[in-house]
Amino acid sequence: MINDVERVLLSEEQLAARIAEIGAEITADYAGKEILMIGVLRGAVLFMADLARAIKVPVAIDFMAVSSYGAGTSSSGVVRILKDLDENVEGKHVLVVEDIIDSGLTLNYLVDNLKSRQPASIKICTLLNKPERRKVDVDIAYNGFTIPDHFVIGYGLDYAEKYRNLPFIGILKPEIYQD
Ligand code: PRP
Ligand code: MN
Ligand code: MG
Repeated sequence: MINDVERVLLSEEQLAARIAEIGAEITADYAGKEILMIGVLRGAVLFMADLARAIKVPVAIDFMAVSSYGAGTSSSGVVRILKDLDENVEGKHVLVVEDIIDSGLTLNYLVDNLKSRQPASIKICTLLNKPERRKVDVDIAYNGFTIPDHFVIGYGLDYAEKYRNLPFIGILKPEIYQD
Protein backbone atom coordinates (compact mmCIF):
# COMPACT_ATOMS: atom_id res chain seq x y z
CA MET A 1 0.00 0.00 0.00
CA ILE A 2 2.71 2.47 1.03
CA ASN A 3 4.73 1.55 -2.08
CA ASP A 4 1.95 3.03 -4.22
CA VAL A 5 2.57 6.49 -2.74
CA GLU A 6 4.63 8.87 -4.89
CA ARG A 7 5.17 11.24 -1.98
CA VAL A 8 3.56 12.48 1.20
CA LEU A 9 1.68 15.73 0.61
CA LEU A 10 0.47 16.27 4.18
CA SER A 11 2.01 14.35 7.07
CA GLU A 12 0.16 12.98 10.06
CA GLU A 13 1.69 15.80 12.13
CA GLN A 14 0.61 18.51 9.68
CA LEU A 15 -2.93 17.14 9.63
CA ALA A 16 -3.13 16.97 13.42
CA ALA A 17 -1.79 20.52 13.84
CA ARG A 18 -4.23 22.01 11.31
CA ILE A 19 -7.18 20.09 12.73
CA ALA A 20 -6.35 21.41 16.21
CA GLU A 21 -6.40 24.97 14.76
CA ILE A 22 -9.72 24.49 12.97
CA GLY A 23 -11.18 22.87 16.08
CA ALA A 24 -10.21 25.91 18.16
CA GLU A 25 -11.68 28.27 15.54
CA ILE A 26 -14.97 26.35 15.43
CA THR A 27 -15.08 26.16 19.24
CA ALA A 28 -14.80 29.96 19.42
CA ASP A 29 -17.30 30.59 16.61
CA TYR A 30 -19.94 28.31 18.15
CA ALA A 31 -19.50 29.36 21.81
CA GLY A 32 -22.75 28.74 23.67
CA LYS A 33 -24.19 26.67 20.82
CA GLU A 34 -24.45 23.02 19.91
CA ILE A 35 -23.30 21.69 16.56
CA LEU A 36 -24.90 19.03 14.41
CA MET A 37 -22.00 17.70 12.38
CA ILE A 38 -23.02 16.01 9.15
CA GLY A 39 -20.42 13.82 7.50
CA VAL A 40 -20.58 12.82 3.85
CA LEU A 41 -19.90 9.11 3.61
CA ARG A 42 -17.44 7.68 3.20
CA GLY A 43 -14.36 9.85 2.73
CA ALA A 44 -15.16 12.33 5.49
CA VAL A 45 -15.25 9.78 8.29
CA LEU A 46 -11.63 9.90 9.43
CA PHE A 47 -11.39 13.69 9.36
CA MET A 48 -14.73 14.01 11.10
CA ALA A 49 -13.66 11.72 13.93
CA ASP A 50 -10.55 13.79 14.63
CA LEU A 51 -12.26 17.15 14.09
CA ALA A 52 -15.09 16.32 16.50
CA ARG A 53 -12.54 15.67 19.26
CA ALA A 54 -10.84 19.01 18.58
CA ILE A 55 -14.11 20.93 19.18
CA LYS A 56 -15.01 21.80 22.77
CA VAL A 57 -18.71 22.67 22.40
CA PRO A 58 -21.31 19.86 22.23
CA VAL A 59 -21.22 18.01 18.90
CA ALA A 60 -23.90 15.63 17.62
CA ILE A 61 -22.98 13.56 14.59
CA ASP A 62 -24.98 12.26 11.68
CA PHE A 63 -24.19 11.06 8.17
CA MET A 64 -25.43 11.23 4.63
CA ALA A 65 -24.49 9.00 1.70
CA VAL A 66 -24.89 10.23 -1.85
CA SER A 67 -24.32 8.63 -5.22
CA SER A 68 -21.46 10.12 -7.17
CA TYR A 69 -22.93 11.64 -10.31
CA GLY A 70 -21.95 9.64 -13.39
CA ALA A 71 -20.54 11.17 -16.58
CA GLY A 72 -24.09 11.66 -17.83
CA THR A 73 -25.21 13.82 -14.93
CA SER A 74 -22.01 15.75 -14.22
CA SER A 75 -23.24 18.88 -15.95
CA SER A 76 -26.51 18.92 -14.05
CA GLY A 77 -24.79 18.22 -10.73
CA VAL A 78 -27.73 16.10 -9.61
CA VAL A 79 -26.74 13.89 -6.72
CA ARG A 80 -28.93 11.09 -5.43
CA ILE A 81 -29.32 10.60 -1.68
CA LEU A 82 -28.56 6.96 -0.82
CA LYS A 83 -28.76 7.40 2.96
CA ASP A 84 -30.51 10.33 4.54
CA LEU A 85 -30.00 11.79 8.01
CA ASP A 86 -31.37 10.15 11.13
CA GLU A 87 -31.67 13.56 12.82
CA ASN A 88 -34.03 16.43 12.03
CA VAL A 89 -31.91 19.49 11.16
CA GLU A 90 -34.62 22.09 11.69
CA GLY A 91 -33.37 24.80 14.06
CA LYS A 92 -29.93 23.15 14.40
CA HIS A 93 -26.50 24.62 13.74
CA VAL A 94 -25.35 22.34 10.95
CA LEU A 95 -21.70 21.86 10.08
CA VAL A 96 -21.21 19.78 6.94
CA VAL A 97 -17.88 17.95 6.96
CA GLU A 98 -16.07 16.79 3.82
CA ASP A 99 -12.64 15.33 3.14
CA ILE A 100 -12.23 17.11 -0.20
CA ILE A 101 -14.06 19.50 -2.51
CA ASP A 102 -13.21 19.03 -6.19
CA SER A 103 -15.91 20.07 -8.68
CA GLY A 104 -18.12 21.16 -5.78
CA LEU A 105 -21.10 19.30 -7.24
CA THR A 106 -21.61 17.02 -4.24
CA LEU A 107 -21.72 19.82 -1.67
CA ASN A 108 -23.53 22.27 -3.89
CA TYR A 109 -26.40 19.83 -4.08
CA LEU A 110 -26.21 18.71 -0.46
CA VAL A 111 -26.15 22.19 1.04
CA ASP A 112 -29.12 23.33 -1.05
CA ASN A 113 -30.98 20.23 0.03
CA LEU A 114 -30.14 20.79 3.73
CA LYS A 115 -30.99 24.52 3.58
CA SER A 116 -34.53 23.64 2.48
CA ARG A 117 -34.95 21.83 5.83
CA GLN A 118 -34.60 25.11 7.78
CA PRO A 119 -31.48 24.67 9.92
CA ALA A 120 -30.65 27.62 12.24
CA SER A 121 -27.35 27.91 10.36
CA ILE A 122 -25.30 25.87 7.93
CA LYS A 123 -21.56 25.98 7.24
CA ILE A 124 -19.08 23.81 5.39
CA CYS A 125 -15.81 22.46 6.74
CA THR A 126 -13.48 20.65 4.37
CA LEU A 127 -10.05 19.20 5.01
CA LEU A 128 -8.88 19.65 1.42
CA ASN A 129 -9.86 22.10 -1.28
CA LYS A 130 -8.92 21.68 -4.96
CA PRO A 131 -10.10 24.97 -6.52
CA GLU A 132 -8.57 24.16 -9.93
CA ARG A 133 -11.31 21.56 -10.49
CA ARG A 134 -14.28 23.63 -9.34
CA LYS A 135 -17.38 23.61 -11.55
CA VAL A 136 -19.84 25.25 -9.16
CA ASP A 137 -19.23 27.73 -6.40
CA VAL A 138 -19.16 26.41 -2.84
CA ASP A 139 -19.02 28.67 0.19
CA ILE A 140 -16.37 27.10 2.45
CA ALA A 141 -16.32 28.38 6.03
CA TYR A 142 -13.41 26.22 7.25
CA ASN A 143 -10.71 24.95 4.92
CA GLY A 144 -7.86 22.74 6.06
CA PHE A 145 -5.56 22.95 3.07
CA THR A 146 -5.81 24.25 -0.49
CA ILE A 147 -4.01 21.74 -2.71
CA PRO A 148 -2.99 21.50 -6.38
CA ASP A 149 -4.71 19.07 -8.75
CA HIS A 150 -2.92 15.84 -7.76
CA PHE A 151 -4.52 12.44 -7.26
CA VAL A 152 -4.52 12.33 -3.47
CA ILE A 153 -5.28 9.39 -1.21
CA GLY A 154 -5.20 8.52 2.48
CA TYR A 155 -6.83 9.80 5.67
CA GLY A 156 -10.26 8.81 4.31
CA LEU A 157 -9.59 9.42 0.62
CA ASP A 158 -9.60 6.35 -1.62
CA TYR A 159 -8.69 5.14 -5.03
CA ALA A 160 -11.05 2.24 -5.85
CA GLU A 161 -11.78 1.87 -2.09
CA LYS A 162 -8.09 1.48 -1.23
CA TYR A 163 -5.75 3.64 0.87
CA ARG A 164 -8.41 5.19 3.12
CA ASN A 165 -6.55 4.03 6.25
CA LEU A 166 -3.22 5.67 5.44
CA PRO A 167 -2.63 8.14 8.31
CA PHE A 168 -1.36 10.88 5.95
CA ILE A 169 -2.43 12.47 2.65
CA GLY A 170 -0.28 11.11 -0.16
CA ILE A 171 0.01 11.55 -3.90
CA LEU A 172 -0.71 8.30 -5.73
CA LYS A 173 1.84 7.06 -8.24
CA PRO A 174 0.37 7.67 -11.72
CA GLU A 175 1.07 4.07 -12.81
CA ILE A 176 -1.45 2.87 -10.22
CA TYR A 177 -4.42 4.59 -11.82
CA GLN A 178 -3.15 4.64 -15.40
CA ASP A 179 -3.07 0.88 -16.03
C1 PRP B 1 -15.37 12.22 -3.11
C2 PRP B 1 -15.02 13.10 -1.93
C3 PRP B 1 -16.15 14.10 -1.90
C4 PRP B 1 -16.47 14.28 -3.37
C5 PRP B 1 -15.83 15.52 -3.88
O1 PRP B 1 -16.32 11.28 -2.69
O2 PRP B 1 -14.99 12.35 -0.72
O3 PRP B 1 -17.28 13.60 -1.22
O4 PRP B 1 -15.92 13.13 -4.05
O5 PRP B 1 -16.04 15.68 -5.26
P1 PRP B 1 -16.87 16.86 -5.91
O6 PRP B 1 -16.52 18.13 -5.23
O7 PRP B 1 -16.38 16.81 -7.34
O8 PRP B 1 -18.32 16.53 -5.80
P2 PRP B 1 -16.63 9.94 -3.53
O9 PRP B 1 -17.78 10.19 -4.43
O10 PRP B 1 -15.36 9.44 -4.16
O11 PRP B 1 -17.12 8.92 -2.42
P3 PRP B 1 -16.32 8.44 -1.11
O12 PRP B 1 -16.32 9.59 -0.15
O13 PRP B 1 -17.09 7.29 -0.59
O14 PRP B 1 -14.92 8.07 -1.56
MN1 MN C 1 -16.88 11.60 -0.43
MG1 MG D 1 -14.03 8.22 -3.41
